[in-house]
Amino acid sequence: MNYHQPVLLKECLDGLQIKPDGVYVDVTFGGGGHSKAILERLGANGKLFAFDQDKDAEKNIPADARLTFIPQNFMYMKNFLRMYEATQVDGILADLGVSSHQFDEAERGFSIRFEADLDMRMNQQSKKTAAKVLNEYDENQLKHIFRAYGEVENAYKLVKLITDARITQPITTTEQLKTIIAPCTPKFKDHQYLAKVFQALRIEVNNEIDVLKELLTQSLEVLNVGGRLVVMSYHSLEDRLVKNFMKTGNFEGDVIKDFYGNIARPFELITKKPLTPSEEEIERNSRSRSAKLRVAEKQ
Ligand SMILES: C[S@@+](CC[C@H](N)C(=O)[O-])C[C@H]1O[C@@H](n2cnc3c(N)ncnc32)[C@H](O)[C@@H]1O
Repeated sequence: MNYHQPVLLKECLDGLQIKPDGVYVDVTFGGGGHSKAILERLGANGKLFAFDQDKDAEKNIPADARLTFIPQNFMYMKNFLRMYEATQVDGILADLGVSSHQFDEAERGFSIRFEADLDMRMNQQSKKTAAKVLNEYDENQLKHIFRAYGEVENAYKLVKLITDARITQPITTTEQLKTIIAPCTPKFKDHQYLAKVFQALRIEVNNEIDVLKELLTQSLEVLNVGGRLVVMSYHSLEDRLVKNFMKTGNFEGDVIKDFYGNIARPFELITKKPLTPSEEEIERNSRSRSAKLRVAEKQ
């Protein structure tokens, strides 16, 4: 099976505005589709650093001397780039979330389609699994996760079912979770509902919001002036953080003025509105459906 079909490939590449001898970072290597296309546009002296925290991604690394693969969480981007003496770079690409491979491997526990342990870790070394979250978080933490990361409307009822069930038996598998929450799962919209519940758990397990904030903050320190930040997100909360940060340099989107009243603008927005896949791309690759791409240039 195809590991992952790259989304908005041309748009991401155009957004990076690749200089043949530039230094680029793909912080979400996955199947390597975007990285491969970056390498095709780089000259002999160009460089690409690629990050992925999932061991499985390593089987996609091409033999190419211009590529350095770093098997780490991208929240450590700045430190690892420093280690490789690449303190300033010309472009950073982030294609957030999980790959098709991660969804399609039943035992990873990401998908509502398979019976599996409630795992959902992108990094197989990490200690926090979805089962741990479900069995150990208190009611308020769980409500927050389902509301903020899944936009689940009946989070109160959902959490009550979970916390009642776990008194008698720990919740360990996807099927068990589906059965427990069946009374609050809408009959004809069960797929969408379960997808939201699973998405919320996945975002928490992988600490996706905090690591994104860390990445965005570091991008400002690492990019050369004129360097491009290209971020593709699949969730409104992530997209809002990206949008605010590109507009104002902070996550709240607060306009900050200096002593003289000048507005601080660390980036020039290249995309005023996010780019989204065409009908044709969605037809070809339904997983591209919710993608939103934003591009900014460091000032
Ligand atoms: C949507 S896929 C990227 C697909 C890739 N652009 C391609 O064309 O194949 C996201 C990938 O990023 C990785 N990933 C997500 N968050 C990460 C993080 N914080 N640090 C390192 N890798 C991460 C996932 O393991 C996954 O392989």
